[in-house]
Amino acid sequence: MDQDRLAFLVLKYQKGEISLKRLLLDIQVFEGHLKQSHLVRLIQDFKLPEDELKHWIQITRSLHVVKDADHYLHLCKGNNCSQRWKQEALEPLYAYALKHPDHLQIIIEGCMGLCELGPNAILNGQMYEHANTHASFQNQLKKILSKEASTD
Ligand code: FES
Repeated sequence: MDQDRLAFLVLKYQKGEISLKRLLLDIQVFEGHLKQSHLVRLIQDFKLPEDELKHWIQITRSLHVVKDADHYLHLCKGNNCSQRWKQEALEPLYAYALKHPDHLQIIIEGCMGLCELGPNAILNGQMYEHANTHASFQNQLKKILSKEASTD
């Protein structure tokens, strides 16, 4: 999220136009996820109340704070997509993300509302339908996972 957009949202909160919870949700909507660096900036740069921010994150199920990373992969694990994902394709992704959290963060999502096109995923803001067989999606993943060879 660029500096201006975050500052704009914080200003709306400071003017009383939106609540703290709404501010967090709006950041997540714009970004697709709430990064740890967003929280650090809200607390350190904008002096927003840390305890209240943590409170809303704890009690708001739809808020997901993720570690800052090079790539973000949102996987739909709603009922329909769950049945369509190839487990043998997901397991290496999970293992990679666990080993390289700074490079890839996986965020599990509920139904994205496009069940008939599943399994669905969003990689770095780009939506992919039929992800098991989507050539561009699979190529992007291969590129991301190939970093392992160069860093190990
Ligand atoms: S279960 Fe994935 S879009 Fe509905």
